[in-house]
Amino acid sequence: MRVGIFDSGMGGLSVLHQARRELPEAEFIYYADEEHVPYGEKTGEQIRGYIDEIIRFMLDKQVDAIVIACNTATSVATKEYRSRFPVPIIGMEPAVKQAVEVYGHLPGRILVAATPVTIAGDKLHHLLEQVDREDRVDLVALPGLVRFAERGDFHTEAITEYLRNELKDYSPENYKAFVLGCTHFNYFKAYYKRIFSDKVQLVDGNAGTIRQLMRKLGIKKGTDAVEKGSRGRIQYYFSGRPVTKEEEKRIGTYIEQLDIVE
Ligand code: DGL
Repeated sequence: MRVGIFDSGMGGLSVLHQARRELPEAEFIYYADEEHVPYGEKTGEQIRGYIDEIIRFMLDKQVDAIVIACNTATSVATKEYRSRFPVPIIGMEPAVKQAVEVYGHLPGRILVAATPVTIAGDKLHHLLEQVDREDRVDLVALPGLVRFAERGDFHTEAITEYLRNELKDYSPENYKAFVLGCTHFNYFKAYYKRIFSDKVQLVDGNAGTIRQLMRKLGIKKGTDAVEKGSRGRIQYYFSGRPVTKEEEKRIGTYIEQLDIVE
């Protein structure tokens, strides 16, 4: 079993992290589009161009399925668009439905954070029409977190300052749940706990995305998923080229951070 996972950059490593936990036998190809990150500040047309190229790349590598480990890319790549390709393509959207279903009965509001493209996109607004009939969900764009994450900047006072400033109109104490609607935001889980009340529930879509991948591939948890590819192997690419040794070390620092926060 060979699975392709891609993101604009390093955020999707959090999805790969979850996938390896559930599918330790599978082989993975991880593609970070480091030449074009951040997607969250590009146009839909530009992003669809990048996605087309990455999907072609993955198909050349004979993957069995592709995970778009990026809410922004998913928000501009509709279902119809994804069904043009010959393997299952699993997208991600901010886990608002899960937040409403699990925490809806508790007092307080839900804050969804994502990139500017995801926040402005029709996809999220259609989802809210279905799951937020009582108007308990607020939205905020936090593109600065993508930049901190891409710099590998996980421990600086500037992150707290940025978050306090961007969230100043939202009265953090009013929120019971914070939805991480961008995979890059996973690196900063400790900061949200500090800024909101420590009772705030953090909700991300990674586990749901991997469950959906397994459903599409007809794999049950614990079964041997290897038919093709090398067991547990991961190949990393930056915008279509294999990463250098130095870049592989850089990826290692992100995995270490994920081991700390997850
Ligand atoms: N990681 C991406 C997401 O989940 C987008 C980050 C970016 O490139 O702006 O939305």
